[in-house]
Amino acid sequence: MSMAARVIRKNIYAVGAPDWDRRLFDELIPLPDGTTYNSYLIKGSEKNALIDTVDPVKKNILIENLNQLGIAHLDYIITNHTEQDHSGALNDIIGIYPMAKIVTNAKCIDLTMNHLLIAKDKFIEIKDGDRLSLGDQNLEFIIAPWVHWPETMLTYLVEDKILFSCDLFGAHLAGSDLFASDERQLYFTAKRYYAEIMMPFRKNIQNHMKRLESYRIDVIAPSHGPVHQRPAFILDAYRDWISDDVKNEVVLPYVSMHGSVEKMVGHFIEVLMQNGISVKPHNLSKTDIGELAMSLVDAATLVIGTPTVLTGPHPLAVYAVYLANALRPKTRFVSIIGSYGWGGKMPETIAAMIGNLKVEIIAPVIARGQPRSDDFKAIEALAGSIAAKHKAAGII
Ligand code: FEO
Repeated sequence: MSMAARVIRKNIYAVGAPDWDRRLFDELIPLPDGTTYNSYLIKGSEKNALIDTVDPVKKNILIENLNQLGIAHLDYIITNHTEQDHSGALNDIIGIYPMAKIVTNAKCIDLTMNHLLIAKDKFIEIKDGDRLSLGDQNLEFIIAPWVHWPETMLTYLVEDKILFSCDLFGAHLAGSDLFASDERQLYFTAKRYYAEIMMPFRKNIQNHMKRLESYRIDVIAPSHGPVHQRPAFILDAYRDWISDDVKNEVVLPYVSMHGSVEKMVGHFIEVLMQNGISVKPHNLSKTDIGELAMSLVDAATLVIGTPTVLTGPHPLAVYAVYLANALRPKTRFVSIIGSYGWGGKMPETIAAMIGNLKVEIIAPVIARGQPRSDDFKAIEALAGSIAAKHKAAGII
């Protein structure tokens, strides 16, 4: 399906492409709402500039959109990020516009040369804070590492006060609307995206957002999802997500083979609720990892439910724990509930996998075989202990 170029402001166009059918990103992240690869064209009085390209699978749409706008000559291609969903069509665009120069920072030049096999003489290197004149329009570059790779940068259009924010503030949403309209729906899509992609860089984003306070921003045009004409919506959401505040919640990823863990999980949920704690259970044989990542954004506590398989956790639990460790949520407390048949080192294995998390580990509850009354009492004590820790930390 094609999508025509659309006007953001006079002489500023969205020329990228939606991908309605894409259901997996990086062969890893589920995309229930598809995504967009946003690319923007700015026609200055003297020069024009394309900001990022698109994923190679949608390059024909970008090329059609540029044709439709009558772009016979392209001066600059601003590359905010090397990842191929934005730079993957660079070689095609350079082939059509051989005079175009790729404008980006040194790190991005290095990564783009390696990933796209583009010669060094095609690049113009800029530094943090540099400006590039298009005549009546000026671009200012804000180098912002780790939103989402080490080379990422943001581009600010000085006159129209538009922030082209790279992956930051994006959403995997293949809507037909250019501008964010249904903020309620977008909130969850953007939170899911934050959880999956941005959460590991929460501390970096805290610094970048402080820096952005010195810019007046009328429009945020990210690399995925709709354009924000009310930047406060997404900026406020990010301020909440990246803050150090946690909520009175337990995230409970679990897997059960023969029902023991399931019984423990059921009782645990009940007693957490009795203690006034919200609980977000995720049955790992059914949940999608994006949902689990979203739950990890705010929760004070993570509890993993797993049986013992041979000597360690169930592989689905290993996957969830590995993911939680990689995503570096602001979780404060971790515990485990589970079962075993004849032995093993399941809790020790999990504890050794969460080195990135700055958490206090609360003593696990592990049943031998089917849980009995003592195990259920231990689960009640665990819920009480979590409530006490939440209270002591001022979370309840
Ligand atoms: Fe949308 Fe990190 O690329």
